Amino acid sequence: MTKPRAQARVYRATPQNLRRLAAALRRGELVAVPTETVYGLAAHALDAKACARIFTAKRRPPDDPLIVHVGSWRELEAIAETNAAARTLAARFWPGPLTLVLPKKSVVPAIVSSGLPSVAVRMPRHPLFRKLQRLAGIPLAAPSANPFGYVSPTTAAHVRDGLGNRIRHILDGGPTRIGVESTIVDLRDPARPRLLRPGAVTREELARALGCPVRDASRRQARAAQAQLAPGMLARHYSPRTPVTLHARFARNEPAAGDRREAWVYFARSTPPSGKNVFALTTNGDLRVAARRLFSVLRTLDAGGFTRLHVELAPGRGLAEAINDRLRRAASR
Ligand code: TXA
Ligand code: MG
Repeated sequence: MTKPRAQARVYRATPQNLRRLAAALRRGELVAVPTETVYGLAAHALDAKACARIFTAKRRPPDDPLIVHVGSWRELEAIAETNAAARTLAARFWPGPLTLVLPKKSVVPAIVSSGLPSVAVRMPRHPLFRKLQRLAGIPLAAPSANPFGYVSPTTAAHVRDGLGNRIRHILDGGPTRIGVESTIVDLRDPARPRLLRPGAVTREELARALGCPVRDASRRQARAAQAQLAPGMLARHYSPRTPVTLHARFARNEPAAGDRREAWVYFARSTPPSGKNVFALTTNGDLRVAARRLFSVLRTLDAGGFTRLHVELAPGRGLAEAINDRLRRAASR
C-alpha cells in the first residue's frame, strides 16, 4: 500500500505564521498566497530551483512563463528594463491587478520567463501579500495556484482541493476581491501597447492613461504566443471538466424547457426563473460581483454532476471583456 501524501497546512495570517512563511519562501519552498485577483503559488523568483518546483507542483509545461510579483518600483528596476509607459501605468494602477511585460534583466532565471527575453511583472494590492513580501524581501514568481489548465482558485479551500497533496503551505486570506486574473499588457514597444489578457484594469482605462489605443496582440504575435508563451492564450485554460455552452442571451423559456441534468447560469436578470438547476452570477448587473463569483460558481457546478453548463455572456464592455474571455476559454475544447 502506498502511504497517502501529507496534506498542505492552511495558515491563518498571524504575525508568527507570516514570519514562518516568509522564511520558507527565502529557503526556496512554495507558499500559496492570496492576491486581490486569484490565489498564487509563490516561490523565490531569483532562485531557479524554487521556481522549478512551481512547474512540478502545477504540472505546468515549461513553455508557459511565470509572473514576477514585486513590492516596490526599485525591485522592478532590478529585474526589468522600464520605460515611460510602464512608469505611467504603474503610477496609475499599482499596486493592483495589472501585469506589465517588459524586457528582462539577466538576474531573472530563464525558467521564470521560459527562455523569453521578456518578463511579466506585477505589484499586488492585497495587504497580506504585501506583508508577506515585505518580510521575505524578495521578488516572488507566482502563477495561479491551480493544477495547469483548471479554473483559478479564489479561496484557500480551492487551492487545497487542487494542490493540497502537492504543496505544504497555504496562507488563507479569505475569498479574493476581484476574482479574475490580472490584466496583462505588453509594453516592450511602449508606442504600441498590446493587451495580452483582459482583466479588472480595462482596455479603456489603459488607453486613457497612455493616451493611445491598446490593441490585441497581432495575429502573428498571438500565434507565436500559442506556440510558445500563451499568456493564458492557450485555448483550453481555466476550464471546468463539464462541457460549457455560451449564450449571448437565454431565450425566456430555455431553462424551463431544458434537461434537468444541465445547469443554467444567468448573468443578470432581476428574477431568474426558479429551478434547482438555475443559478445567477449577479441579479443586479454588477460586473464586479459577477467577476468575483465566476470561478467559484464554475467550480461548484463542475462538482454538481451536471452533464452541461449553459452560461449567459456578460453584456457591455469594461470588465465584461475579462469575464467573457474566461467564459470562452472555459467553453473551448
Ligand atoms: O492575477 C494574476 O495575474 C495571477 C496572480 C497570482 O498574480 N497570476 C496568474 O498567473 O494568473 P498565470 O501564470 O496563471 O498567468 C500568467 C500568464 C501566463 O499565461 C503567461 O503565459 C503570461 O502570463 N506571461 C508570463 N510571462 C510572460 C511574458 N514574458 N510574455 C508574455 N506573457 C507572459
Ligand atoms: Mg493560471
